[in-house]
Amino acid sequence: MLVEVFEGDIEESDWEHALGGIHALAYEDGELVGHASVVQRRLIHDGRALRTGYVEAVGVRAHARRRGHAGALMDAIERVIRGAYELGALGASDMALPFYRTRGWLPWEGETYALTPQGIERTPDDDDALLVLEVTTELDRAAFITCDWRDGAVW
Ligand SMILES: CC(C)(COP(=O)(O)OP(=O)(O)OC[C@H]1O[C@@H](n2cnc3c(N)ncnc32)[C@H](O)[C@@H]1OP(=O)(O)O)[C@@H](O)C(=O)NCCC(=O)NCCS
Repeated sequence: MLVEVFEGDIEESDWEHALGGIHALAYEDGELVGHASVVQRRLIHDGRALRTGYVEAVGVRAHARRRGHAGALMDAIERVIRGAYELGALGASDMALPFYRTRGWLPWEGETYALTPQGIERTPDDDDALLVLEVTTELDRAAFITCDWRDGAVW
């Protein structure tokens, strides 16, 4: 379903990133039309490794869009984030940015980095896509933030 939703622009590693946490599924007349998941990651910010609910693989089939499915999926995912994590974070597609912004997700304004096997590396291409949801930790969104390592897209 997600291959169709992302028109083929989804790697095996993108799906792997979506596993190991909690999934939300949306159905319409028995057909699976939407998916979102939240997994635990560590984001390093202000000298702390923050327990982060990282949102992955949010997608709704084209024929079922603008009917509130993604909103319902994110209601469930945000409930998990607020109950279990210090903050929420996600890397948004251009298309989905307005959707998340209307839900209170805030853009990261500072520089992004990744903790790679070679050390800390700057990830400038990800700066504009990173959105966060404050839960228990006050964030300085103008400062820098570093994600833990994984194969494929790091953010
Ligand atoms: C982004 C996406 C998940 C939204 O799913 P959806 O089920 O259509 O979203 P909803 O119906 O719950 O939208 C709720 C509100 O979000 C906003 N919104 C949703 N899609 C939007 C869009 N393309 N442009 C602007 N605002 C949008 C609107 O305010 C909408 O309310 P409205 O329909 O009453 O105006 C869907 O378009 C999609 O799967 N896109 C392709 C994959 C993708 O980019 N996923 C996100 C990865 S981060």
